[in-house]
Amino acid sequence: MNPNKALWEKGDFTEIAALMRQSGEAFVKALGITAPLRALDLGCGDGTTAVPLAQLGAEVVGIDIAQNLVVAGNKRAAEAGLSQLTFQEGDACNLHGVSDDSFDLTLSVFGAMFAPKPFDVAKEMVRVTRPGGRVVMGNWIPNDPTSFVSQLLKISSSFLPPTPEGFVSPMTWGVETHIIERFSQAGVPKEKVFMVRDTFSFLSPDKSPGDVVDSFRQFYGPTMNAFEAAQKDGKAEDLHHQLLELAKAQNQATDGSTSIPATYLRVTVCL
Ligand SMILES: C[S@@+](CC[C@H](N)C(=O)[O-])C[C@H]1O[C@@H](n2cnc3c(N)ncnc32)[C@H](O)[C@@H]1O
Repeated sequence: MNPNKALWEKGDFTEIAALMRQSGEAFVKALGITAPLRALDLGCGDGTTAVPLAQLGAEVVGIDIAQNLVVAGNKRAAEAGLSQLTFQEGDACNLHGVSDDSFDLTLSVFGAMFAPKPFDVAKEMVRVTRPGGRVVMGNWIPNDPTSFVSQLLKISSSFLPPTPEGFVSPMTWGVETHIIERFSQAGVPKEKVFMVRDTFSFLSPDKSPGDVVDSFRQFYGPTMNAFEAAQKDGKAEDLHHQLLELAKAQNQATDGSTSIPATYLRVTVCL
């Protein structure tokens, strides 16, 4: 089994995505799209951004490596009556079966950054987007204290065994020099790559930060793996404590609910 696929099929990301809907909609609104538009949402999960894109009138294909999320996405599309939105299984490293220049917009919000071959990912995103179109990515930023998920992943990975040789951290997609290098190898000059920091919020009116940490522990593949490794080493309590402190420190709600802002890098590539 492909470990990248296994990681994301392990849990149930829909439980985390439920905290991200509001920012997903805001992200899409800020793209200023006008229909008709053909869009690809890569690493789309169950449609945090694909659903609002389709609601704005775009024809949307969501591609994700996790079969369970593709099923969940198609269910959401059907429930919302969005016949112009379909989800299918695929790997951002190799979008075989997707023709060159198929899309006006290729979007990937905290999705393609998790694919293991970043140079191939950049090449594929550029290949399937038409000249004059856009590639837009949302990427977590490494070592940024205000980038909640990046901190959560950093803590989680400190409880995991060392990564195999050749492993490229997904966090490198939050570093300007890597981004420029990857897109320039895909044939895009750096003048066409724009980056801006923005905020994505994890919101739940009825979950405390502790509940949110429990959701990551129960449903989010990378955190589930970290807890399994920590359990073996008798360190699960330590991991839980560190994640809880992080979530509590970053929570801005004062009524027991959760509102955690998280800085990310929005990358726009104009083709
Ligand atoms: C953090 S989730 C984000 C999901 C969605 N974009 C959202 O914002 O709700 C990462 C997603 O990327 C997908 N993913 C990871 N590696 C991938 C790959 N190589 N190709 C396609 N999707 C991938 C995962 O299955 C998962 O749905």
